[in-house]
Amino acid sequence: MEKILVTGGLGFIGSHTAVALLESGFEVIIIDDLSNASKEVLTGIQTITGVLPEFHQIDLRDKEAVSQFFKAHTDLKYAIHFAASKAVGESVSDPLLYYENNLMGLINLLNPLVSKSSGVIFSSSCTVYGQADQMPITEEAPIKPAESPYGNTKQIGEEILRDTVAAHPQLSVVALRYFNPIGAHESAEIGELPIGVPQNLVPFITQTAIGMRAQLSVWGNDYPTIDGTCIRDYIHVVDLAYAHLAALKRLIQKQQKMPFEVFNVGTGKGSSVLEVIESFERVSGQKLNYRIAERRAGDVIQAYADTTRANEVLGWKAQFTLDDAMRSAWKWEQKVRG
Ligand code: UD1
Repeated sequence: MEKILVTGGLGFIGSHTAVALLESGFEVIIIDDLSNASKEVLTGIQTITGVLPEFHQIDLRDKEAVSQFFKAHTDLKYAIHFAASKAVGESVSDPLLYYENNLMGLINLLNPLVSKSSGVIFSSSCTVYGQADQMPITEEAPIKPAESPYGNTKQIGEEILRDTVAAHPQLSVVALRYFNPIGAHESAEIGELPIGVPQNLVPFITQTAIGMRAQLSVWGNDYPTIDGTCIRDYIHVVDLAYAHLAALKRLIQKQQKMPFEVFNVGTGKGSSVLEVIESFERVSGQKLNYRIAERRAGDVIQAYADTTRANEVLGWKAQFTLDDAMRSAWKWEQKVRG
């Protein structure tokens, strides 16, 4: 079975994808710099799958280390590239860190791959659409000027890949534009582990419920939506992992119509912030302490995916509901901090 390199494989989405790959019989090699993940995640992956994947602590900005790694793994042709920084606020205060991590890392990974028949799956984001004019958002929707250096690295990352496949026809790329990944593996062996105060909604909800945070602030209830709060497309991270598997099979079986393909990965269903809170209260049987606060700068009113392309071309569709995802996130939080 094919060997797959998973960069950032100890992170939130990377670890769930590593599990899905191992369960499908792939050999997995993980690279992670441990800047935002712990080595214990390897144990979680092993507990679920019975396999301890090969692991290398490498910072992808280190060109020499990456090149040495590929010299020792000449048969490696496929990479799923998660390793990147992802905190929007931090990217505004430290843009060079984001351009360095997210773009140099990508370039250093591509260099050893372009000369062979190879395939890369790139973690992109619905953030590239900004506030789209039409819902649901198709892949044809225009790319809006990025709202943050983080968002810009995703746009530039896609451009780097588009240019690189044009020059190197042996390389094929799938960019997956994730909507809002949430939840955890049902075993609660792996999940999301934000460092410091979470900026994202679901970890903030579960940390509030467990007593680590006093209260959740709902950023604005005067948006033009069903209940005034923002709408997002929350996708279970295990569904997201399966989307990578489907994309990988397409790359390996050389089924691509174009050397660079883009897919939205969401559920196709929008949920408001209050609906997410209600879902949490339903599955946990617990009331959440929250208040309505001012709008947060940079938030779009609504973003949810048209997933037709992924459904039809990748043969992939999200299976889990919002309640499933909230239940798994809560189970994970209770296990980690309870
Ligand atoms: C954010 C990023 C996005 C990035 C994604 C990565 C912004 C503007 N966007 O998406 O680019 O790809 O994270 O995970 O930062 N909310 C609250 N209270 C909270 C936290 C969030 O009400 O304490 C609301 C937000 O206003 C939003 C929704 O919950 O309506 C989801 O927020 P969040 O989880 O931060 O994700 P996004 O902002 O959609």
